[in-house]
Amino acid sequence: MIEFHNITKTYQKNWTALDNINFNVQKGSFTFIVGPSGSGKSTLLKLIYAALTPDLGFVRIGEFRNPGITTDKIPQLRRKVGVIFQDFRLMQDRTVYENISFVLLVTGTPRRIIKDKVAQVLAELSLTHKLHHYPFQLSGGEQQKIAIARALVRNPFVLVADEPTGNIDPQGSEEIFKLLQKINAGGTTVIMATHDSSFLQKASAYRMIALDHGKVIKDVPPPPSKG
Ligand SMILES: Nc1ncnc2c1ncn2[C@@H]1O[C@H](COP(=O)(O)OP(=O)(O)OP(=O)(O)O)[C@@H](O)[C@H]1O
Ligand SMILES: [Mg+2]
Repeated sequence: MIEFHNITKTYQKNWTALDNINFNVQKGSFTFIVGPSGSGKSTLLKLIYAALTPDLGFVRIGEFRNPGITTDKIPQLRRKVGVIFQDFRLMQDRTVYENISFVLLVTGTPRRIIKDKVAQVLAELSLTHKLHHYPFQLSGGEQQKIAIARALVRNPFVLVADEPTGNIDPQGSEEIFKLLQKINAGGTTVIMATHDSSFLQKASAYRMIALDHGKVIKDVPPPPSKG
């Protein structure tokens, strides 16, 4: 469903961030992208949501292709690829409700449907009571859950997480990871980049692609039971 084919990405003349990357990600799978700082994890993820264009090769994301996707199709791609970041990227001057509903509102979804969708996704995350709170009134873990809710409300087929636990304490990190597992169990493909070594042990139950200096140095399939 997601395919990296001979991907090379260079930022500057002598700096190759990704060097001939090849792999496929199956629909409904959970994949860890691991590797030290600067190994190319964020660059790889940016190619999935078309924030960057490869220099060589192509990435297939469902029906989309990068390069090849036209500017007018990028919003369609972004609707189907949910992205969450280390720094949450919530709108600080908007409530939880406003943060989650924003994209639905601008894409013309009727208000009644928006209300139902937001209520449903917050109930799933047990955060209904935070509906009218602002991000600064929430813990890091709660803010990340709201960022996840904002992605999920658009029914993405893949959720891309770039160091989602990077700014969260260990207990909160564990909760976020459990939530991502639950989302994956519901059928959404999850791709999570981390350099947090405490995840390496957990990664043993999942597909793990290890990068170093822009190359895939390991690609470990999950044990058969996890598919
Ligand atoms: N906009 C940019 N301009 C120039 N070089 C860049 C740019 N973004 C990233 N790089 C370089 O590309 C390489 C890969 O960066 P990338 O952000 O993908 O690494 P990463 O694995 O996500 O690291 P981290 O764990 O610190 O987030 C690094 O050497 C980085 O310095
Ligand atoms: Mg990064």
